[in-house]
Amino acid sequence: MDAELVRANFEAAGQGHVFAFWDELGERARRRLLRQCEAVDLSRLSELRAAIDELKTPRARNLSPAPVFELSNREFPYALADAARAVAPIGDKALRDGHVAVLLVAGGQGTRLGFDGPKGCYPVLPLSGMTLFEVFARKIRRVGTEHGRTPPLYVMVGGHNESATINFWQDHEFFGLSPDDVKFFAQGEMPALDENGKLVMAAKDALFTGPDGHGGVLNALHAKGMLADMRARGVRYVSYIQVDNAQTPVADAAFLGLHIAEGAEVSLKVVRKEDPDEKVGIYCLDDGVPGIVEYSEFSPEQSRERDGDGLRYWAGSIAVHAFSVDFLNRLADNGTDLPLHAAHKKVPCIDPQGNVIEPAQPNAWKFERFIFDTIPLAGKVNCVEVPREEQFLPVKNADGPYGPTGFKQAYQDYFARAVQAATGKRPPAIEVDPMAAENAREVIELAAKANWDTTKSLHIKQ
Ligand code: UTP
Repeated sequence: MDAELVRANFEAAGQGHVFAFWDELGERARRRLLRQCEAVDLSRLSELRAAIDELKTPRARNLSPAPVFELSNREFPYALADAARAVAPIGDKALRDGHVAVLLVAGGQGTRLGFDGPKGCYPVLPLSGMTLFEVFARKIRRVGTEHGRTPPLYVMVGGHNESATINFWQDHEFFGLSPDDVKFFAQGEMPALDENGKLVMAAKDALFTGPDGHGGVLNALHAKGMLADMRARGVRYVSYIQVDNAQTPVADAAFLGLHIAEGAEVSLKVVRKEDPDEKVGIYCLDDGVPGIVEYSEFSPEQSRERDGDGLRYWAGSIAVHAFSVDFLNRLADNGTDLPLHAAHKKVPCIDPQGNVIEPAQPNAWKFERFIFDTIPLAGKVNCVEVPREEQFLPVKNADGPYGPTGFKQAYQDYFARAVQAATGKRPPAIEVDPMAAENAREVIELAAKANWDTTKSLHIKQ
């Protein structure tokens, strides 16, 4: 790589400051900086600026509600949409035929949780302290036991947590999954811009970069050969899940069945939003095109609009999807990039003298791509409502309802309620092995065959 040429290009693009400390850098530091610079497409800096403008002045929307397969029953322990139950055998067959893979995105930084390590290594279950990664591995093993074929698992990691994640899985012998069926791949990185549109430097020899968002999975699947791997394995459908929602079913047969029966390219699950101020993206139509619209883009009046008993815009996305592999391949073949979204954040950096700064206020723009931006690109989209407490209990924050304590409380309330419905008694504490059951309906079925002592902590094991 010609350092002078790279430097000249950066200067021409108004980014000459990146080389401000070049003369005092050693050989290794120079190589490191050049490698990073090579990865920055200067011709696309305008895209980053456009993402900032879009955030500051969102474009006008023409919103209307989108069709959703709604729950048939809102009474605990809830029944899924009739339409989904009817086609579950189609999903079961796809699983038996080995046509399904699980895609777990785990490349985020988990800043809000503040856990020192990959979020998937977080001990989440209340009695055993089982980690998020193990929860998902056990869910996949259960799918395998039930269908005679274990879906392969693709785990997206970020540069910052790649080796820690892989070591964790290796140290735990892949939690009983076959190592050949667990593939790790790293997502891309994005630089940040300061208030003046300059690339943020993390050190004298390093640009600041961060993971490019869960939407980065689209490029990474292709670039890291994962789509080719899926093709070679005969995978046709991908069950997409995020690492922080331990209650989400994995490779859900009813959801996949509906995806296949509907001929959808993308499917998504939503929960009913009841609080107009809940900060959740809403599935709706924008100029007739389905997609997720961020809560911030609804006016306060729109968020409060009512339709019958509930909110007009009630379909809150929980970031659980099914994708057809043909669709992912088509996007990859067309070189489709999902749009960038800007966020104003506190980004550690250096000042012009090279001193490290830990800003107290947001000082720069970070950029991410979002997985739900695949929805408007799909020929056919299928949306299914699921019961919130059954399938959406994410661990996002250090405290509050979406923190570990809030999770444990809601998780135990939900399963204890199932035991109470079946036996009339409520255990003081409860955990359900993901290989034994994954929802209240299944716990109630197990209760019919079991003789549980509900006076003590109840650990329902396989
Ligand atoms: P979040 O949007 O909650 O972000 O990710 P996060 O990085 O985990 O946490 P904060 O915002 O820093 O507190 C939702 C899911 O998307 C994955 C995360 O690992 C999580 O499973 N994700 C997010 C990625 O895989 N890559 C990313 O760049 C961002």
